[in-house]
Amino acid sequence: MSATATAEARTLLHELTGRAPAGVWSAPGRVNLIGEHTDYNDGFVFPFAIDARTVVALGARTDGRIRVVSTFDKTPVEVALADLDALFPGRRDEVVEWARYPLGVAWALLDGRDAATAGVDLAIASDVPVGAGLSSSAAIEEATASALDDVWGLGLDRIALAHAGRRAENEAVGAPTGIMDQMASVLGRADAGIFLDCRDFHADTIPLGFAAADLEVLVMDTRVAHAHSTGGYGERRAACERGAAILGVPALRDVRVDDLPRAQELMDDVTFRRVRHVVTENQRVIDTVRVLRGQGPRAIGALLDASHASMRDDFEISVPELDLAVETARAAGAIGARMTGGGFGGAAIALVDRERVGEVSAAVTSAFAAAGYAAPHLFTVQPSDGARRDA
Ligand code: GLA
Repeated sequence: MSATATAEARTLLHELTGRAPAGVWSAPGRVNLIGEHTDYNDGFVFPFAIDARTVVALGARTDGRIRVVSTFDKTPVEVALADLDALFPGRRDEVVEWARYPLGVAWALLDGRDAATAGVDLAIASDVPVGAGLSSSAAIEEATASALDDVWGLGLDRIALAHAGRRAENEAVGAPTGIMDQMASVLGRADAGIFLDCRDFHADTIPLGFAAADLEVLVMDTRVAHAHSTGGYGERRAACERGAAILGVPALRDVRVDDLPRAQELMDDVTFRRVRHVVTENQRVIDTVRVLRGQGPRAIGALLDASHASMRDDFEISVPELDLAVETARAAGAIGARMTGGGFGGAAIALVDRERVGEVSAAVTSAFAAAGYAAPHLFTVQPSDGARRDA
């Protein structure tokens, strides 16, 4: 799926420098199977990396400058590595938005290190759809982090690369997101999900067994654009912090389903429903891993459905297009379905029998047409390997 992006990144770099790349790295987007808005609450998530990747082709420079160019915007952005500290986070508005991701990663990686490091030219191309909630941003961050870690000889492990990507996103871009997307992008494995504890970053690779069970993950991109640097995401995060403060715990991770009746007495209805989503979602992640291990992927449908209901009713981050996609897919025979990612738009996923993918897709497409919504973008994804050097 990433052959196009690889060719595009190589061509772009050649146009920029007149030379072939010194190396090519790539990192995937992700689908979150379950565990939404739990990561910044020190909780559990269960995403997998997908077979759509962002590719970085790199050329070496000797002048201590970094230049980035991408298929999003072919105008190169160039800055001295020594000036990155002056740029981020305070003067980030001076950098065009897409370039804050790769430059922010360079800034986060160099933090506290000698900035007299060799300069680089980076050409970026991507097969990960932007704005669909599939973490196109984490894919850029982790492809860039992998490339720079290698050429600068930093020797960082995967968890450190994920943290650098998150720091770029939080501070250089200004989106208050958690660690899930970057972890999925670096830790992904073919046919497996990453069961991650976002408190201590312990990660277990859990075989999903979708292919062996003749199941497909259908992504239903509503094409309702979302952005986490604005509005709703930050508000949800603040509500979770408020709930944890009222309950006197470091994070909502420390609240159990049994504690909810007491929590309800202590806070207003909206805060309580935000808390209830996170607390029950953490439990659903643990249950999904248990059910998957014990009974296999066909048995996780009800947990996916319950997760969607909780996001729609308690966390209130769904939109009518996502609800329609989920309900229609389920009515057409999906085993389970839920919105995935931060919400307020983006994509839903459905776990579907391979032979029913056509039927479910047709049902969703016609339901969208009947509702007067723009046509959704429907495609299947395969659980895939994380960030790596390709050439
Ligand atoms: C976005 C963020 C993640 C996570 C999800 C919601 O994808 O980047 O850190 O919070 O939303 O689960």
